[in-house]
Amino acid sequence: MHSRILVLGLGALGTASASRPCAPHALPEGTWAAPKEGEVRSPCPMLNVLANHGFLPRDGKNISKTIARAAFKDGLNLDPDFSDIMFDPAVLTNPYPNQTTFDLDHLNRHNLLEHDGSLSRADAYWDDSQVFNTTVYEETLTYFQTDTVDVKSAAAARMGRVLSSSRTNPEYYLNATAESISFGETGAYILALGDFETGTVPLERVRMMFEEERLPTELGWSKGTEAATAAQLFNLTQRIIDNTEFPALRARMNGGIHAGVMAKHHH
Ligand code: HEM
Ligand SMILES: [Mg+2]
Repeated sequence: MHSRILVLGLGALGTASASRPCAPHALPEGTWAAPKEGEVRSPCPMLNVLANHGFLPRDGKNISKTIARAAFKDGLNLDPDFSDIMFDPAVLTNPYPNQTTFDLDHLNRHNLLEHDGSLSRADAYWDDSQVFNTTVYEETLTYFQTDTVDVKSAAAARMGRVLSSSRTNPEYYLNATAESISFGETGAYILALGDFETGTVPLERVRMMFEEERLPTELGWSKGTEAATAAQLFNLTQRIIDNTEFPALRARMNGGIHAGVMAKHHH
């Protein structure tokens, strides 16, 4: 009797899942799971977060413009124009010509989008796997001395990592474009996980993104009710640049983050 119920139960499950486009054992979108063997990840903590939650393909592969837009919308409520300015250069990291998609591990390729002086990854000179690096990340955390990251401490962390990399890595390289992109990454995590107006984000949310590659929902975060725009990203990034202690860097950034991102299209 028991086994009969079991067989019937499995039969019903099989029918239900066969009518859905996803695999029978696929986790629902939004549910977090660590990547499995063969699934690829990137040097970008937030793309990894979105893949771990199934907003991006869990295998990290074949990400199209449409897939990216939907993932950013559903996972973070980012505007399509925000998604596109980050997606368009990423396709160029695909090692095959004329592609319209990229895999997360394509982003590991050094000095395309991936650059030295990262907050949570060692420079490619030491480790080109681009996996999370505790030593580097602990250095970053020393710049966050309070419960809240603001534009000033975020800028200090960004510059601090650039300076220590440039002092220690004999092959250190970061041009102005990559420099401005790196400030854009900082603007992006504050915008997506924190508050645009004040330019602040609770540190514990930033830590969950980097350390667990998980959305900080259990810490009280939820995606914004209004979509975050590319214009907000540029504005917030500029405020971070304006808050660095290095006038020479601010001068180099004259064109602003927008110019940096756009220049990348011509590489
Ligand atoms: C299609 C969209 C995106 C692409 C292609 C992308 C790509 C990348 C790449 C290649 C890096 C590595 C740079 C490096 O540190 O060497 C990176 C870093 C980073 N990205 Fe993304 N990203 C995207 C969207 C986002 C979004 C939406 C956020 C946040 C809301 C974000 C946050 C970050 C952060 C904080 C880093 C710095 C990591 C570190 O310094 O260790 N990214 N991204
Ligand atoms: Mg890097």
